[in-house]
Amino acid sequence: MPDSRDTVLLIGSGAREHAVFRALQRAPSAPRVAVYGTSRNPGLTATATAYTVGALTDPEAVVAFARECGATLAFPGPEAPLAAGVVDALEEAGVPTAGPRRALARIETSKGYARDFLARHGLSAVQPRFRRFPSTEGMAAYFAELGGRYVVKADGLMGGKGVRVAGEDLEDADAGLAWAGELLQSADSVVVEELCRGPEFSLFTFTDGSIAVHSPFVLDHKRAFPGDEGPNTGGMGSLSLRDHSLPYLSPHLARAARLVNESVLEFLAEENGHPYRGVLYGGFMATADGLRVIEYNARLGDPEALNLMALLDGDMGTALRGMATGGLREEDLRFREECSVCKYVVPEGYPTHPLRDVPVDLSGVPAGEVPYLAAVDEREGQLVATGSRTLAFVGTGATLAEAEARAEKGARSIPGPFFHRSDIGTDDLLAQRVALLAHEVRGAR
Ligand code: AMP
Ligand code: GLY
Repeated sequence: MPDSRDTVLLIGSGAREHAVFRALQRAPSAPRVAVYGTSRNPGLTATATAYTVGALTDPEAVVAFARECGATLAFPGPEAPLAAGVVDALEEAGVPTAGPRRALARIETSKGYARDFLARHGLSAVQPRFRRFPSTEGMAAYFAELGGRYVVKADGLMGGKGVRVAGEDLEDADAGLAWAGELLQSADSVVVEELCRGPEFSLFTFTDGSIAVHSPFVLDHKRAFPGDEGPNTGGMGSLSLRDHSLPYLSPHLARAARLVNESVLEFLAEENGHPYRGVLYGGFMATADGLRVIEYNARLGDPEALNLMALLDGDMGTALRGMATGGLREEDLRFREECSVCKYVVPEGYPTHPLRDVPVDLSGVPAGEVPYLAAVDEREGQLVATGSRTLAFVGTGATLAEAEARAEKGARSIPGPFFHRSDIGTDDLLAQRVALLAHEVRGAR
């Protein structure tokens, strides 16, 4: 009898891909999973049907590996392959892919494009005021026009580390100009935008170009240190609640965010003459003036994917096939009504001066807990942290406290020169997010 199971090519080898991999392993459709990654991640190598290490930005190499392992479907985890046209190349080679083509992924890969796109389609009311600058000329005047409340971002991909905020990371206009000048050495333009204030949230919309299935709302903590202090990182940890919402989201704001994601999908398809397939990730803020789009990404979030995959009760294999070829069904993407907390363990010095090549000792990990491995490599049988976010733990439970305790226990079990944020997932920190919005609303009156 012919085997009708899919062979999914998973592109990427971090914790997000590890979480997707595990969701595929428990999927009733039981797909085989091959991995094209950037390092040998033992969380994946142990059970992948095929594994190779290469550049995620090399479409020909990815297509060659897809052929070699007989991939019938592909799923890109990170943004780099989207920006490099890997999806376009796979589709041209006949491998249906649950990710947007390069032109559609510009909603993430160019922040300037994304801002102009939203403005062009009548969505200015949900985004901050902004301007794109090819040089620093006229920038100081724009800082002043925004009343000194501004954010400076590189136009291109910076892994969440290209953004600096006036009054926090930038002490005055000179610091803002210096940062813009530094970014302009490698970027064609920078975006200066109005600083928004309020708690953030992420909403993921899964689509086959026809139907849209929304995720629970997730809160990601991007700052490196407790109390949401310190530099921006790729994300230190994240949480979601049992009702799939967050305490600072009114039903109106939640509906508005879903509607904005759906509108973006429609306008992207219309403008590019090609349906958007895969995951659209809206990064939003709840402000005193209502909903604001902070950024769009064209993929699953990391760490948010770890929360979502832990809660997924559908069939990730069927969901990927649906996204890639049409016929996505809501029932394939059901999420359990539980709380979830994810915590990342990172090397000392992260994100600015991380220690590199530190051995990782997993011997103390509590029985039954899974460390989701991220920036690690296996060298001569030794697990080594390569300098970015190292590994993550996810706890789920009926209460936030229960989920937090499990994730915290895991994170604490890693000895050596690493740190994590003990405050992520605590009721106190969540209450601070709620208080932040209340404070902004009072201030605006
Ligand atoms: P981004 O890479 O655009 O998501 O920016 C990274 C982080 O910088 C966001 O998660 C926010 O915390 C912060 N940020 C970006 N843009 C703004 C903005 N306009 N107002 C306030 N904070 C922002
Ligand atoms: N959660 C941040 C990101 O994936 O970009």
